[in-house]
Amino acid sequence: MQLIAGIALLGNGTVGRAVAQRLREHAELIERRTGVRCELRGIATRRSGDALALLDDPHVDVVIEAVGGTGAAAEYVEHALDRGRHVITANKDLIATQGPRLIALAATRGVSLRYEAAVCSAVPVVRTIADALAGDTIHSVAGVMNGTTTAILSAMENGADYAAALLDAQEHGYAEADPAADIEGFDAAHKLALLLQRAFEAAIISPRIRKTGIAGVTREHVVQAEASGYRIRLVAAAHRSRSGIAAEAAPLLVPLMHPFAQTSGVENVVRIDAADAGTLWLHGQGAGGAASASPILGDLVTLLRDRADRRARSHAPAPRLEPVIDVSPLFFGLERHRELPYSIWNERIITDDCYSTR
Ligand code: HSE
Repeated sequence: MQLIAGIALLGNGTVGRAVAQRLREHAELIERRTGVRCELRGIATRRSGDALALLDDPHVDVVIEAVGGTGAAAEYVEHALDRGRHVITANKDLIATQGPRLIALAATRGVSLRYEAAVCSAVPVVRTIADALAGDTIHSVAGVMNGTTTAILSAMENGADYAAALLDAQEHGYAEADPAADIEGFDAAHKLALLLQRAFEAAIISPRIRKTGIAGVTREHVVQAEASGYRIRLVAAAHRSRSGIAAEAAPLLVPLMHPFAQTSGVENVVRIDAADAGTLWLHGQGAGGAASASPILGDLVTLLRDRADRRARSHAPAPRLEPVIDVSPLFFGLERHRELPYSIWNERIITDDCYSTR
């Protein structure tokens, strides 16, 4: 008997359009790899006003959410999960702020909530943490996870000014709708929170994470840093020890040869330290339509394979997140030097200590 999965696609922006195109182009490939034929039942947007009706279509099995934000998207995802639809989302804001609640709802309804594209787009960091390291203990996660700020900082290293570099990131579709989310560190903190939910099985939401953006970084800072053998990068890092969880996103001085400093443009790089696996590095395209479509289709194929093998699904428990009382800041010196923007850099050089020991 032919297995068919009805797909509802929400969103028609950079990511939504790329996904719609791949769903058409890769229909045969998906069927060959899963044994399931996908039928795109409809595409709805925030403005089209028919999203909830599409989610209620009894032939919709999987909802792909690429609307973004925490307003309408939250309503759509909750509605979809509540109706027993599997959800794949690229929405880091949503999972970083409401993930624990939505993960619990998905578990109650016995459906999957997958979000590989929400963190570092094409870099398979959620999968690495949730699947590859599922039998290990993760001590720390750190990375350069915001492409817009890296693009701005690397353009400044090449002589561009801040405004021109930001405009370029916006034109390429990398920057958030409100680029303040990138510049002020919210986007990096969202991605970090989302990874920590899986890495530490803890209900960490991004408002708990201290963040400092790059608005105070001048071309003079960039030049000074380079002359001293460093680059400035917005680093998001977290560490778990017996005394608790510490996490933070802030611009740091990174030695030129460090993999974090080697990033340019929208590249992301993530370091994971695990008890048995040791140190792992992941590196690749952290933003863009194609780079987001790949993990969304990857989540779709994984989900359809699970669905085809119902016995496997019925034995797979949903992730359980422990409540978190407190998340401490991670980087030393930041508080003391907050009032002294020019000298802070001395205290903010990245070292192994800054993300792997306290
Ligand atoms: N604005 C984000 C970035 C897009 O610059 O990395 C990908 O999440």
